[in-house]
Amino acid sequence: MPALRTEAVTAGYGRSPIIHDISVTAELRSVTTIIGPNGAGKSTFAKTLVGILKPMSGRIFVGDTETTKLPGHEIPRRGLVYVPQNDNVFKRMSVRENLEVGGFVSKADPSERIDELFQIFPDLAKAKDKKAGFLSGGQQNLLAIARALMAKPTVIVLDEPTAGLSPAYTSVVWEQIERISQLDTAALVVEQNVERALKHSNYVHIFVAGRSHVHGPAEEIAALDLPSIFLGRSVADQPA
Ligand SMILES: Nc1ncnc2c1ncn2[C@@H]1O[C@H](COP(=O)(O)OP(=O)(O)OP(=O)(O)O)[C@@H](O)[C@H]1O
Ligand SMILES: [Mg+2]
Repeated sequence: MPALRTEAVTAGYGRSPIIHDISVTAELRSVTTIIGPNGAGKSTFAKTLVGILKPMSGRIFVGDTETTKLPGHEIPRRGLVYVPQNDNVFKRMSVRENLEVGGFVSKADPSERIDELFQIFPDLAKAKDKKAGFLSGGQQNLLAIARALMAKPTVIVLDEPTAGLSPAYTSVVWEQIERISQLDTAALVVEQNVERALKHSNYVHIFVAGRSHVHGPAEEIAALDLPSIFLGRSVADQPA
């Protein structure tokens, strides 16, 4: 059973749909990435998964639990957490306090989990008493990811976790994403850098104009003429 499964999800703001019939699965211990042009509906899909938007039709499952109609605050408890692109840490709290807040979802003492995460994110361990607002942009993104992991989620949804980062730190963040996906988590990532997505993901969806236009294992997607797909041409139009 996939960690996350959507069946023909259609959603949008107000009455008009922005994304149409999106069927995606994300498996444990793998990275599934959504790429596509600006305005394709990638963030809209992420927001629908986490209950910020409710689907107009279609269904969403986290493991065997249907989350389609659950209120947003219930969804992390069912194992799906979300890291938004911006404003994803409490800047006036220390690194450690940010992680403690992330632990509120579970009733257990957070210290043990914090120690585990400090082993995975040594940069954060070094800065544990610093106010999050004093970290670099890349470190803040890692903190946001670590905070989401406090809940030991089955699925982590990351919206452009590398936006605005230097190429060097982009590599660090992607390496961490690959690493955490190995910890019995499914990572679903929105990424605007196609090369990075292909390099670090197992499975890729290309969204164009609100639809999952083309999808497949990263190696297969890498072999396609992506610029023409981004313009909305179909795989059938590809040169052989
Ligand atoms: N809060 C909103 N209310 C109404 N329309 C919105 C809202 N947010 C986004 N949209 C519209 O939905 C469409 C898809 O936007 P979305 O943010 O999902 O795209 P995206 O693929 O994430 O783009 P980007 O790569 O720029 O982040 C766009 O036409 C956008 O104008
Ligand atoms: Mg977006």
